[in-house]
Amino acid sequence: MNIIEELKINKNLSNEQFKLLLTTDTYTNELFKQADTVRKQIYGKDVYIRGLIEFTNYCKNNCYYCGINCTNKNIQRYRLTKDEILQCCKNGYALGYRTFVLQGGEDSFFTDDLICDIVSTIRKNYKDCAITLSIGEKSKESYLAYFKAGANRYLLRHETANETHYKKLHPENLSLKSRKQCLYNLKEIGYQVGSGFMVGSPYQTIENIIEDFRFLQNIKPDMIGIGPFIPAQNTKFEKFKHGNLNLTLKIISILRLLFPYALIPATTALGTIDKNGRELGLKSGANVVMPNLSPVKYRSLYSLYSNKICTNEEAAECRGCLEKRVVLAGYKIVVDIGNVKK
Ligand code: SAM
Ligand code: FES
Repeated sequence: MNIIEELKINKNLSNEQFKLLLTTDTYTNELFKQADTVRKQIYGKDVYIRGLIEFTNYCKNNCYYCGINCTNKNIQRYRLTKDEILQCCKNGYALGYRTFVLQGGEDSFFTDDLICDIVSTIRKNYKDCAITLSIGEKSKESYLAYFKAGANRYLLRHETANETHYKKLHPENLSLKSRKQCLYNLKEIGYQVGSGFMVGSPYQTIENIIEDFRFLQNIKPDMIGIGPFIPAQNTKFEKFKHGNLNLTLKIISILRLLFPYALIPATTALGTIDKNGRELGLKSGANVVMPNLSPVKYRSLYSLYSNKICTNEEAAECRGCLEKRVVLAGYKIVVDIGNVKK
């Protein structure tokens, strides 16, 4: 049995074997091919679309890699009103979106009551849609309140499963332990949970990536968000290099083989480092795309990293553009809530 078959059948490899896959290209073509085969066995050629609503770029945290962190005084801050958020959902629904992802910085303006009010209104208006939240670390009580209001998915990347590495990316007041605890809490409540990490974040080693695989094996997420790190202006890491395309694609493929059922997006960050990045992501095992539904006037302000794509396109333009890209890659966008097929 070769190493790819072993990964496919056992859903596991030794650290040495993972290292071989990550650091050489001996098996890369076979890896991509098998990941695509497994993805097609479970999801066919279907690609799920998630309408991303970036509703606030205020954030109380100072993640060193992130362009909207609170120390960045050079960006204009914005918040969408409840009405603006609902308008995004309305536009999105008409364009065929059946999942809305509300993402933002950790912004205390949006109290639990306000989040619950927004979520319950979306739930009331769109009973056939999934509501995904991605608003960072909150107490278990808060997560439970959002869940009861109608949210059913939550995205919270663990960022890195290694303590030492976590400390290099975050200030003292943020800890890997509490990030992990949040993920356990979300699972316990009953959310479909997404986690993940950046590829090529500063100081990341191959061993760190293998630890990330092990951590993901431990929490068994429904969604796995993987994208290259891209330096953001006015941050501590602005001079660092972006993550490598080939390595990111290999990691997507490995994750597809480790978690055949997972919902894995071909991320905007992947499309930013290479003009065909999202198509290549789909061909390597990804099965989700997350175009933006936020009003164009705010798009460029949600500047997690520099040179982000799709900041000038209207929602309908992105939908059309992606449709073409997905078809060219050999897949098809479906109008579907896109639940995990476990
Ligand atoms: N505040 C929420 C949280 O912390 O989960 C959601 C928003 S946060 C900006 C969303 C994700 O963006 C992070 O989990 C991180 O992996 C990614 N991100 C932030 N800065 C990035 C960068 N410079 N390059 C690539 N991805 C980045
Ligand atoms: Fe936004 Fe292509 S997906 S312009």
